Amino acid sequence: DAGFFTYDPGFMATASCHSAITYIDGEQGVLLYRGYPIDQLATKASFLEVAYLLLYSELPSEQELLDFERVITTHTMLNENLKNFLDGFHYDAHPMAILCGVVGSLSAFYHESIDVHDPHYREVSAHRLIAKVPTIAAAAYKHNVGEPIMYPRNDLRYGANFLHMMFATPCTDYEPELLAEKALNLLFILHADHEQNASTSTVRLAGSSGANPFACVAAGIASLWGPAHGGANEAVLDMLHQIGDVSNVPKYIDKAKDKDDPFRLMGFGHRVYKNYDPRAKIIREVCHQVLEEMPGANSPLFDLALKLEEIALHDEYFVERKLYPNVDFYSGIIYSALGIPRNMFTVMFALARTVGWVSHWMEMMSDPANRIGRPRQIYCGPQQRDYVPISKR
Ligand code: SDX
Repeated sequence: DAGFFTYDPGFMATASCHSAITYIDGEQGVLLYRGYPIDQLATKASFLEVAYLLLYSELPSEQELLDFERVITTHTMLNENLKNFLDGFHYDAHPMAILCGVVGSLSAFYHESIDVHDPHYREVSAHRLIAKVPTIAAAAYKHNVGEPIMYPRNDLRYGANFLHMMFATPCTDYEPELLAEKALNLLFILHADHEQNASTSTVRLAGSSGANPFACVAAGIASLWGPAHGGANEAVLDMLHQIGDVSNVPKYIDKAKDKDDPFRLMGFGHRVYKNYDPRAKIIREVCHQVLEEMPGANSPLFDLALKLEEIALHDEYFVERKLYPNVDFYSGIIYSALGIPRNMFTVMFALARTVGWVSHWMEMMSDPANRIGRPRQIYCGPQQRDYVPISKR
């Protein structure tokens, strides 16, 4: 019992590690980053301010934040040879495939950063990943649309720099609207960390062997890509397009309840939250604001999402199983409104979650008691038996 939190022995028996970064109460729908409630951070802090908090466990002073922003900005460019690597991908490669491959290849360029036992280089690696993932993400998009890669600009804030790399071209400049930058800042904060989710556990397990941080984060990106995890935001938009019209909602609700039907209501349910995902509540409000203020935003999809949510939340199947909208249910609609294509939605999730991944990796690697992770299993195979020669099989 650590005073503030009383641990359930059953929970502790299954806990995979100790961590001081993020606290979730799934029953109460509580999410704290280093003790600060997510709704306060999402509406009051900048993404790099939250990144500093997750990395260094305290909110930065004004000078500390300026220094941190400067360090991140100076690492945003990529080694020029990486452009050749990017050019090698098939033109229609999924941006998550490009992100996974290029992030993993950073260990081939920043050799000194893979000395995981040197605290200085651990910190440099963390800064390099937070700084370069947006540049790689935007480059993956440019590769997909056949446009030249745009270099980062040191005069732009983190989110604005990413939007500029996404939508500017050598022929046309792009000045991100303040609302778009604010919406992105909030979405990045909401997606920054979430305790021991599948992708963060992947990064920690890979890192526990002493593997370099670029390879560990590439493993996290691969895990996040799955539709049951970070790939859900892209799957939600596919689902909404598949449903098409409010009149079809009851049919798809029935499909989601049918055990024999593989269809699940994407963006609903959670391994931990058996209450409303606090992030979904915040994103829902931002969705309303963005769609009201962004010209031509896709509000029919949002109206359909609201109707789907209303019907599901009154259906006993979902109520009994405590299935509520999660962080992925609305985020894709906002990304769409910002002009970000569906195949980039999970890349946006990975861009934000890189901060959580590197924070957990730094926490684990700075612990002298850290040992290689080695999950066990419940064996359900055959008992011991003797070899049978092939002539007798
Ligand atoms: C993220 O871990 C994290 O923290 C992840 C994340 C993060 O920030 O890192 O929060 C991000 O990954 C959010 C989740 C995104 N995924 C989706 O939206 C995909 C759709 N959701 C489902 O695939 C599912 O809800 C999971 C994968 C999220 C959870 O699966 P579980 O653990 O099987 O859910 P459960 O144990 O609560 O299920 C209880 C029942 C089961 O039915 P019964 O066996 O009781 O009859 O509810 C059913 C499930 O089949 N169920 C669903 C459902 N989710 C669960 N039925 C229909 N539609 C759904 N979406």
